[in-house]
Amino acid sequence: MAHLTINGRAMTIDADPDTPLLWVIREEAGLTGTKFGCGIAACGACTVHVDGMSVRSCSVPLAQVDGKSVTTIEGLSNDRSHPLQTAWIAAQVPQCGYCQSGMIMAAAALLKAKPRPTDADIDAAITNLCRCGTYMRVRAAIHAAAGRA
Ligand code: FES
Ligand code: FES
Repeated sequence: MAHLTINGRAMTIDADPDTPLLWVIREEAGLTGTKFGCGIAACGACTVHVDGMSVRSCSVPLAQVDGKSVTTIEGLSNDRSHPLQTAWIAAQVPQCGYCQSGMIMAAAALLKAKPRPTDADIDAAITNLCRCGTYMRVRAAIHAAAGRA
C-alpha cells in the first residue's frame, strides 16, 4: 500500500511495491498524457516530476514514491497556460506528439533549475528522444518560455 498525491489528488495505491510509477499514473489515476516508450529509462516519453524533480516514471517503483507528490503533464497547469505549453503551441513543436509530454516535463524541470538556459544547458538537460526530430523546435520553445516559467 502506498500513499501519494498525483496532480494534487491524494491516492492510496494497493499494488506491488515494484509496480512502475508509469502504470500507476496511467492505469490507477487514468492519466494517459504520460507515455510508454522504451521501459528502460532511455527515451524520456514517461517523464514526470516527483517532488519537483524530473524522473522517468517507467523505471521508478511505487515504493520509491510513497508519501511523495507526483506531477504529470495534466498537472502542469489547469488550462494549458504554462509558458512552456503556450511556447510549444506557438512554435508548433509537436509532430506525431508521442514524446512531447515527456519533453515538456523535462523542460519544466530545467527551467525551474535554470530560468534562462543556454543551448548547451538545454542539450545537456533534455536527453529525451524524438523520432520526429523536433529537437530544434524544442530548443526554440524553451528559449521562448525562459524567464516566464
Ligand atoms: S518509457 Fe520511460 S524512459 Fe522510455
Ligand atoms: S513528436 Fe513524434 S516522436 Fe517526438
